[in-house]
Amino acid sequence: MTNRITINADQAAGTINRNIYGHFSEHLGRCIYEGIWVGEDSPIPNTNGIRNDVVAALKQLQIPVLRWPGGCFADEYHWKDGIGPREERKRMINTHWGGVVENNHFGTHEFMELCEMLDCEPYISGNVGSGTVQEMSEWVEYMTFDGVSPMAELRKQNGREKPWKLKYFGVGNENWGCGGNMRPEYYADEYRKFQTYVRNYGDNKVYKIACGPNDFNYEWMEVLMREATRFMDAISLHYYTVTGPTWTEKGAATGFTEDEWYTTLRKALVMDELLTRHSTIMDKYDPEKRVGLIVDEWGTWFDVEPGTNPGFLYQQNTIRDALVAGVTLNIFHDHCERVQMANLAQVINVLQSVILTEGEKMVLTPTYHVFDMYKVHQDATGLKTTVESQPYTRDGQSIPQVSVSASKDAAGSIHISLCNLDSDAAAEVEIDIRGLAASGLKVEGTELTAAIQDAHNTFNNPDSVAPNVYRAFSVEGSSIKAKLSPMSVTVLALSVEG
Ligand code: AHR
Repeated sequence: MTNRITINADQAAGTINRNIYGHFSEHLGRCIYEGIWVGEDSPIPNTNGIRNDVVAALKQLQIPVLRWPGGCFADEYHWKDGIGPREERKRMINTHWGGVVENNHFGTHEFMELCEMLDCEPYISGNVGSGTVQEMSEWVEYMTFDGVSPMAELRKQNGREKPWKLKYFGVGNENWGCGGNMRPEYYADEYRKFQTYVRNYGDNKVYKIACGPNDFNYEWMEVLMREATRFMDAISLHYYTVTGPTWTEKGAATGFTEDEWYTTLRKALVMDELLTRHSTIMDKYDPEKRVGLIVDEWGTWFDVEPGTNPGFLYQQNTIRDALVAGVTLNIFHDHCERVQMANLAQVINVLQSVILTEGEKMVLTPTYHVFDMYKVHQDATGLKTTVESQPYTRDGQSIPQVSVSASKDAAGSIHISLCNLDSDAAAEVEIDIRGLAASGLKVEGTELTAAIQDAHNTFNNPDSVAPNVYRAFSVEGSSIKAKLSPMSVTVLALSVEG
């Protein structure tokens, strides 16, 4: 049975903000320490303490924006502990994540330098839960004020003469939970107060992001939009794909069953419902869509790898994670008029990472390859697409077998990303491209797939799951017939010759 796809090459469906391809780095487990920061004296090749291999791999992804320092850590973080001579910085206990000592060696200057190396925008989360208005206000002054002021002087004393550019600033994180267990009405007032003192200095204009809801908490979205829309540029949303029935039984990252494969993808697709319903609430208060929806934490959350610290959230990453990434990014494209940024949790060694490290070794995960293949969609124009998918059925439940998204880039090339969610059956697809002045359609393809459901890359076998040239298609006029391998992510690049 064929899956029928129609792509309207002449009908735009919004711009796919490159920030949808954003990442998240928290002081959690081995994300910052070991994953990014090894220190200047490390035998691991580094520049000013930051790993060279990781920077090179992330640059290849063209990561547009990086969120820091948390997560739950953000509402316990006091930024002044992380500036000045490193050996004199305060040591604290990272109570949220494993109770380990945080030596604050990676702070504001190190993070901003990392962003400069990556050529990406910094996105900083401020502390509402255990911080003060003054502390938050001074952090923004420290980073962005170009003139004579106490914080600008302090920054200069610490070796940075010129202010940094800082656009994205989050006013708290998960303030309904780890960020203070607040009620939405209370947080809405706190947000209004804190954001007042997040100032714009010179030509630095801060894009203020309010803490939004977790998954299905529509009441939180309603209250925040009702009480604070005019004080925000965006509001966040968090959603994790958890396979198991509870947070204490989240399911294994590898060695899972066919049912768990299916459940994971079914739950990943819930993102579409969440974006639709939260956007509907936002539309009520912001019909012009001025306020962005920022999914600044998303991805799979499984049980930690056996034998690792439960507080470190270290998990393997398989072709199943690649499918979750592919379908989720396709969903973000569909909602690109409202979704202005998304940040996969987390960039290295934590949850659905694109990179894993062990000492000096580094491995790129299947999720990394999806982000690499999909980067062609960054800042491209989404194209109106319809899909008549065959069902992927298990135990009387059905989800679509195929997920699709298409965009046109500035040079006029069209890219189509296709996921076959079925782990057993190939998917026949017929793609009708309308609105192309076409003869001489040239198509090239790249595919990521595997032979077993939990195929993954290890330090000894780093290329077990890697993209390959894809040729299982034929072109006739403006129609493409393709056969998608089971459990695969494919990107087609189309150009018109002559
Ligand atoms: O990403 C891990 C944690 O998940 C973050 O610290 C928190 O914001 C969320 O609950």
